[in-house]
Amino acid sequence: MSRLIEGRTIAEKVYAGLRSEIAELKKRGRTPGLAVVLVGDNPASRAYVRSKDKMCRDLGLHSVKLELPADTTQAELLARVRELNGDPAIHGILVQSPPPKQIDEAAIVRALDPAKDVDGFHPTNVAKLALGDVSGFVPCTPLGCQRLLIESGIEISGAHVVILGRSMIVGKTLALLLMRKGRGGDATVTVVHSRSRRLAEITRSADILIAAIGQPEFVRAEHVCEGAVVIDVGINRVDDPMVERGYRLVGDVAFTEVSEKASAITPVPGGVGPMTIAMLMSNTVKACGQM
Ligand code: GUN
Repeated sequence: MSRLIEGRTIAEKVYAGLRSEIAELKKRGRTPGLAVVLVGDNPASRAYVRSKDKMCRDLGLHSVKLELPADTTQAELLARVRELNGDPAIHGILVQSPPPKQIDEAAIVRALDPAKDVDGFHPTNVAKLALGDVSGFVPCTPLGCQRLLIESGIEISGAHVVILGRSMIVGKTLALLLMRKGRGGDATVTVVHSRSRRLAEITRSADILIAAIGQPEFVRAEHVCEGAVVIDVGINRVDDPMVERGYRLVGDVAFTEVSEKASAITPVPGGVGPMTIAMLMSNTVKACGQM
């Protein structure tokens, strides 16, 4: 049976550190401010935005929640982003993804001031990550995965990390982060995806296996070697008439069978999820400190 990597407990430790940084900033008359922009009424996005706003308030950050109608135009959204770029009380801006289909998301991201891009999606921040410039912002989910490993005392340096999934938000970015030189990096990274041959053979060679493919319970016992560390980034809703809300949340990993082989594993929910919000708060505090 494996050790459970408790994201909620580790996120609390992150918040304790942030509270003292925030207190220091406030002594200097500065309060970190985060603006979260939601276009439309996707229920999952709405829930995420609510929890980000609540966490800002818990920490004493200035929080602006901008909810725009589903038929907002590109020009209107660009205008709001530019206003926030120029607002001195706002240090971090996040435009919740995915936006409605009339919005060109890449153009919105390019319009963000890179110094306020706490999502780390702007090309300047992607380039800084690739170049090893630590002044940039790293996307919150990869940063949360790395922090879980560090805080759990799992050796990343020299380890073979296999990442399932090549998305910009998680897989590709996480690969750059874990192969970077220095603390929390120096890993040997392999990225596998839907077109990879001999996928199970490769994942079985992982010391650390990170699943970010968005397919419920894709990773089975046969994909994992005895003693591997398994990080599950997936959050999938699967129909379940036995529960009141009609669905349950599962990860990209078949938890029960994989936990028999892994030395340590994250649960879903309560693993990577709480860390993602903690890293957003951390990036916002960093943005304020750098301005
Ligand atoms: N939607 C799901 N995850 C994210 C994220 O990390 N940032 C943004 N902006 N939208 C998301």
